[in-house]
Amino acid sequence: MSVIENSKLTVVGAGSVGSSVAYAALIRGSARHVALYDIATAKVEAEVLDLAHGTQFTGTSDIIGGSDLSVVEGSHVVVVTAGAKQNPGQSRIELAATNAGILRTMMPQLLEAAPDAIYVIVTNPCDVLTVLAQEATNLPRERIFASGTVLDTSRLRWILAKRAGVSTSSVHAYIVGEHGDTEFPLWSRATIGTVPILEWEAPGHPRMTQDELDAIAIDVRDAAYKVIQGKGATNYAIGLSSARIVEAVLGDEHAVMPVSTVLNGFHGLDGVALSVPSIVSAAGAVPIPETSFSDHEHTLLRRSADALSTVAESLRG
Ligand code: LAC
Repeated sequence: MSVIENSKLTVVGAGSVGSSVAYAALIRGSARHVALYDIATAKVEAEVLDLAHGTQFTGTSDIIGGSDLSVVEGSHVVVVTAGAKQNPGQSRIELAATNAGILRTMMPQLLEAAPDAIYVIVTNPCDVLTVLAQEATNLPRERIFASGTVLDTSRLRWILAKRAGVSTSSVHAYIVGEHGDTEFPLWSRATIGTVPILEWEAPGHPRMTQDELDAIAIDVRDAAYKVIQGKGATNYAIGLSSARIVEAVLGDEHAVMPVSTVLNGFHGLDGVALSVPSIVSAAGAVPIPETSFSDHEHTLLRRSADALSTVAESLRG
């Protein structure tokens, strides 16, 4: 995509996720100006230098950064990645208390520096933290949302595309719910092109069974555990997913993406953040109420909402 005139993205947190968001945004040209902010001065300055040294080979985007909050000023989008990360075998939810504390302190400061920005929460558990951050800042619900299951959806489409013998862009399927252990695919609406997923077949690509789809859903749900086991973190795919979300906002795209907003009556859910297909534009993210679920999927959605509400409630104390 072409770089949006004068647009500014700030990535908060210069760890492996934050640096990868900045790297992806520079390469993709997601914003004209990319800034990286972290309280760890030496680390953030080193990451910014390393990224800046490569800008001969990226597009017209530039990169600045540091540990002074002035770095954040003038941002149109702020992507928050700061916080503790999962250790091997640890769930996202186990990070809740630590990272809720970090976000509670940091969000008001960020908002003061960039009062008009759209805020995208990537720090885990991203759904729970979105609720707490929305409550702490009182931002309109559309202006603060989590990257949610955009990444999980990309993982799903990658697996299905290989299995079906088509491009990822021809797989129309979504993971919804928690970005975590209770997430699930909306199989009832999944298609390859226009063909319902269970009816798809092509030479060398026989029909899939429901059992196979269920196994794929488990693979997607557990994908991050597998990557973390092997390399200690996930960073590239979340970096690319986040850069893509930033583009939808800065380009006022009205793109349909499964991001996580604090719901306000969506299928009877209120005050809990989880991912459902939403319209992402310069105004932020708004869930699509017409999204339909099978009875089973509706049960899974409620289960995910209940799990997340319980965690958020325990943190409100
Ligand atoms: C993942 C982390 C970012 O799913 O939650 O890769």
